[in-house]
Amino acid sequence: MKVLVTGGAGYIGSHTALELLNRGDEVVIIDNFANSSCVALKRLAEICGRKPVFYEGDVKDKLLLRRIFSEQHIDSIIHFAGLKSVSESIKKPLEYYENNIVATVDIVDEAAKANVKNFIFSSSATVYGDPEVIPISELNKTGGTTNPYGTSKLFAEKILQDYAAANKDFNITILRYFNPVGAHVSGKIGEDPNGVPNNLVPYVSKVAVGKYEYVSIFGNDYKTKDGTGIRDYIHVTDLAKGHLAALDHIGKFGNIRIYNLGTGNGYSVLDVINSFQRISGVGIKYQVAPRRNGDVAECWSDPSLALAELKWRAELSLDDMLKDTWKWQTLNPNGYN
Ligand code: WQD
Repeated sequence: MKVLVTGGAGYIGSHTALELLNRGDEVVIIDNFANSSCVALKRLAEICGRKPVFYEGDVKDKLLLRRIFSEQHIDSIIHFAGLKSVSESIKKPLEYYENNIVATVDIVDEAAKANVKNFIFSSSATVYGDPEVIPISELNKTGGTTNPYGTSKLFAEKILQDYAAANKDFNITILRYFNPVGAHVSGKIGEDPNGVPNNLVPYVSKVAVGKYEYVSIFGNDYKTKDGTGIRDYIHVTDLAKGHLAALDHIGKFGNIRIYNLGTGNGYSVLDVINSFQRISGVGIKYQVAPRRNGDVAECWSDPSLALAELKWRAELSLDDMLKDTWKWQTLNPNGYN
């Protein structure tokens, strides 16, 4: 099987490309290094002894997409390439809509013209907004997104659903990720955010290595067990394997399917900080700060549909996620630089 992985040098893309290469699939990557590094590609080859085919460029470049489809006999596409910073999306909404929606439309269009019929889309639990029902199943209402990033995922999902309804021979699987964290167990690839990390685990690990003094806990007055926000953190390797399972089952249950990829467990901000201290052996200072705009109290998944249909479930614990984050952070204190 030959799989086109857009954004394959990025955080989730590189871990997924690795799992595909490990099981013997052929991998073609397109990436423009907007928020990723060519070093990640070298590391992939170091870990698994095989190289993906690589095209440097932008998924918004239709001519390049056409060239890839004519040069490679692609069976399936996993579309990761996109912008993912909530705060940046508020400042640059059009860039988010162009990269996350327009480019998705173009890839599907070019894929269909090239007779590629299987498309997996990276979506996010953010499409559920502030959930009325917890744990969140795929039947939960979507909408109520609070920033252009979230809205771009919601709109792209809707467009893909409309396309699938009109094109029954084109298979689409939408994967809604909860909170991906961790790194490959080798410590050779991991998350390397541009600038100051927005997300909790990358920020905590930078505090642990002394890059920042303390973690700001955004609110301790939520209606949760300790007042801090609860999330469903999932190891990036489990998430990557979820994509392989989705590929293996695409089209079996209809030409459009949507799955949550989460563990089904919720952990608070304090749980994460305390576990990270225990695992790293480093004291982590924190201060309580006001709530962050757009945050919800609790967001964790009911992942049972993915188990029933894809035969996939997350295997790794919060400790595994934090151990691997710590390994990646200490082996690569400056990320890929
Ligand atoms: C987790 C918890 C924060 C940082 C976001 C996007 C989502 C997805 C993943 C994908 C919350 C708290 C955080 C900090 C804190 N994006 N926190 N101090 O907000 O669940 O999801 O990232 O590409 O679409 O919305 O993840 O890691 O930012 O926050 O207290 O410095 O940690 O309030 O409760 P979130 P997160």
